Parts: sequence; C-alpha cells; structure tokens
Amino acid sequence: ASLQQYNTFGIDAKARLLATFSSVDELRELLAHPEVQALPKLVLGGGSNVLFTQHVQGAVLLNRIKGITQHEEEDKQHVLVTSGSGETWHDLVLYSLEHDLGGIENLSLIPGTVGAAPLQNIGAYGVELKDTFYSLEALETATGNLVTFNKEQCGFGYRESIFKKEAKDQFIITSVTLRLTKDHRYNTSYGAIKDTLAENKVKELSLRAISEAVCQIRRSKLPDPAKIGNAGSFFKNPELPIPLYEQLKHTYPAMPGYPVSEQTVKIPAGWLIEQCGWKGKVLGQHGVHKDQALVLVNYGGATGNEVKELAYEIIKSVKEKFGVSLTPEVNII
Ligand code: EPU
Repeated sequence: ASLQQYNTFGIDAKARLLATFSSVDELRELLAHPEVQALPKLVLGGGSNVLFTQHVQGAVLLNRIKGITQHEEEDKQHVLVTSGSGETWHDLVLYSLEHDLGGIENLSLIPGTVGAAPLQNIGAYGVELKDTFYSLEALETATGNLVTFNKEQCGFGYRESIFKKEAKDQFIITSVTLRLTKDHRYNTSYGAIKDTLAENKVKELSLRAISEAVCQIRRSKLPDPAKIGNAGSFFKNPELPIPLYEQLKHTYPAMPGYPVSEQTVKIPAGWLIEQCGWKGKVLGQHGVHKDQALVLVNYGGATGNEVKELAYEIIKSVKEKFGVSLTPEVNII
C-alpha cells in the first residue's frame, strides 16, 4: 500500500501492510492479529513530521481515534479537555476557541494529530504543548495495558519527550488531556504576533484574534502541505553555550539569538541556513522553501533520499561556516 497520501512530504513510499484503528479496542485487536504481530509497527497520525527514505517493511497503523470531551472542572479557572489522539490538532484548537477555552490559540494551524503533539512537545509563537498539558493515556504495546503519564513523566523539553527517548516505540498514545483556562492569559510575547494584531487593528485581545494572527503568520511563511510537500521545520534551532554565541555574534553582528537559560542562547537555524545561501534553492523536484529556510520542500516526485541528502548538505555547510551542528527535527525513517 502506498503511503503517499499519509505523509505531508508526499513521498511515495510503500508499506507491507496498512491498517486503521478508531478506538483503543480496535487497536488492541489489530495488535493481536497474527499478521500484524509478526511485523515491526509504525503508528502514523497526520504524517506531518516524517520523511520516508525507504519502503516500510512492516505494518503502518493509522490512528483515527476521535472524540473531544470536557470534564471535571479542576477549579474555577480551568477545564480539563480530553481528546482522542487521532483528532486533527487544529480541530482541537477550533474546539477550544468555540468553547472559549484558552491556552492553545498560539498553536493554531500546526499540522498533525493530537497524539503526535506530546511526542515532540509541539510549540510555536511563545507557547509549547507542555504549558497546558495535563496527562495522556498510552497503550503499552508489549502488554496491551493502558498507562497514564502525567506531565512530569513525559519529560518534555524543546521538541522532546520521553516518547522520543527512553520510551521510544513502546507506547501508542490514545488520548491527551489538556488543562485549559476560562480566565485567559494571552501570550503576545512573539514580535510577529504583536505586529499582526496591530496590523489587524485589534483593540481588545481575544482567543480568536490571536488564533487569527497566528494563522496569518503561518500562511505567509510556511508552505501549505496540501499544495507543497513539507514537514514544517526540518531542523531544531540549536542552543549554543554563551561563549560560543558571543564569539559568533562578534563575527556576525546581525545573528539573532534568544536566551533560554543562564548558560545557553537559542539561534534560529533558518538564519544560519539562509546565510549559507540555501533559502529558495530548487534542486530538481525538491529544495528549500523561499520564505522560511528551515523548511525543506518536495514540489512533487522527489524521493525521501533526495530530501535527506539535501538536509545533510545543509548540515555540512552550516557546520563549515559557523561551526554549529544542526540536528533534524523531522523523524527520518
Ligand atoms: N530566519 C531567517 N531566515 C529564515 C527563517 C528564519 O533569518 O529563512 C530568522 C529570522 O531572524 C526570524 C527568526 O529566524 O526572525 C525566527 O523565525 P520564525 O519566527 O519563522 O521561527 P523559527 O525559529 O524559524 C520556530 C519553530 C517553528 C515555529 C516558529 C514560531 C523550531 C524548529 N521551529 O521556527 O515550528 O512555528 O518558531 O514560533 O523550533 C515546526 O516545528 O515545524 C515549526 C514550524
């Protein structure tokens, strides 16, 4: 079965077996099936953070567990919202706007599913999933047991969680619970949000006004995966120790940087890549996006290996020019 329509890069890889599950019971049944049991398994949500460089010699399981429920109000200010992991992330954002629940409006329009969000602690415009995350349930594939993870147990970091490290490939996330606000604290710390709100002549902040601004910013910079294959930021933004940052800043005074701790500064990989001349580069059917150098694109027909080779060329040139090592954010399979 072809995976082309199941990955936003639009890579034409194939899977030995492709199956869908819409509930925890269906997932358990699938995992108990002899054909599935015999194969390595890969769960896909929106397929928006993977690059296939070869055919998958195993079973690809498509997560379609739906349903959003609001429950037990923890206190006067917060509401717990539980979502099936197969819901589209942006649909959950729309739900939060409709019910006037705050906390994920800055995460509007991020591609992918709810279940994939904790895996890499999705983040944008000053907010990360971990800021509203309450807990998740996951099926342990070895035992078939449902296990609850609270925020601490998920080990969230910048585009990191335990599910990319110690717990990798051992659990299938089935639902995610967020703690959203009724009494909102708007986050407009990101410059582009402030500018867009001003351009939109927004006088009174609201969840919808922020969501709208975020959608506008994303649409202006990031290619729509429905039109041009891509998986968002291909690399993580590197964190540099302050002495190295200062040294580079001396040579490149225009280099942007955001302090993340007493010891480190995060610099936009997009800037480094642009300085190396990659922005807007087209190589056959793939290349580097013209408006955001951090995004690699497939114009149609590129292979995963071509995109991977381009990524390695970029890593090499950034290393040569700046001495900084970029690491991919996208899951290369
Ligand atoms: N920049 C350039 N050239 C470029 C791109 C960026 O010089 O081609 C510089 C500019 O100085 C710009 C700065 O980088 O002001 C920041 O750019 P942007 O606001 O586009 O954010 P980013 O750091 O490139 C990160 C996330 C995005 C997220 C945005 C907004 C990572 C790996 N990426 O990108 O997340 O939407 O911030 O918060 O942290 C994703 O993970 O897939 C993703 C899109």
